[in-house]
Amino acid sequence: MEKSPAPEIELIEQNGEVTLSIGGEQAMQAWERDLMWASADLLCRHGQDFYEVGLGLGLSALRIAGNPATRSHTVLELFGEVEDLFRAQHPDLPATLSIERGDFFRRIFELPSSSIDGMFFDPALDMDVWKDEELWRRTMPEVVRVLRPGGVFIPFFSTRPELRWQYVEHFRTVRVERHPYTAYDTTEYTYGTSGNAYIQCFYKD
Ligand SMILES: C[S@@+](CC[C@H](N)C(=O)[O-])C[C@H]1O[C@@H](n2cnc3c(N)ncnc32)[C@H](O)[C@@H]1O
Repeated sequence: MEKSPAPEIELIEQNGEVTLSIGGEQAMQAWERDLMWASADLLCRHGQDFYEVGLGLGLSALRIAGNPATRSHTVLELFGEVEDLFRAQHPDLPATLSIERGDFFRRIFELPSSSIDGMFFDPALDMDVWKDEELWRRTMPEVVRVLRPGGVFIPFFSTRPELRWQYVEHFRTVRVERHPYTAYDTTEYTYGTSGNAYIQCFYKD
């Protein structure tokens, strides 16, 4: 959900580590690159028009936009400062890539039905948002609505193999890929700094 006032946003590069910090939290770190790329490549096997929630460092966005299968890739980002940092690092963006500003929990209601082949969903959300059952009950049918038949919804990897309750009720078919990962020693948002990450791909029938 939209946060107000805007939190402090910083790109921290130190000791060979890259962290996007939002409101003092680790929102994204560059060690996730291979998991972002694996998620992006899986997404791009399912069509040509894609949508992504959460720009972050833009690792997945650039991978999706740069895939030869991709005709269009639109990324929704909540904070202008995140987009400014990304554009400063990547002045020449692929023509397939568009970035739009907004809050996913509002924007999803405005997206046209059956308009995309796949959505990569990687916002960094507060725990109270994850726990808001009513919010997810309202929102996920909208995700299904904007997908074309055969389209896919891929949320960011989980370091637990369980399917997330927020999504699972809304799809009949799910494919899960296991990928070993090693985070930074300083990473605070995974269960341990190495292990298995699970990329879950939900299919619209
Ligand atoms: C984990 S990062 C995305 C990382 C990205 N996949 C990458 O490869 O670098 C999460 C991003 O989601 C954005 N975000 C958080 N809540 C959002 C919302 N409700 N709508 C849109 N973007 C959101 C954050 O500002 C942040 O830039």
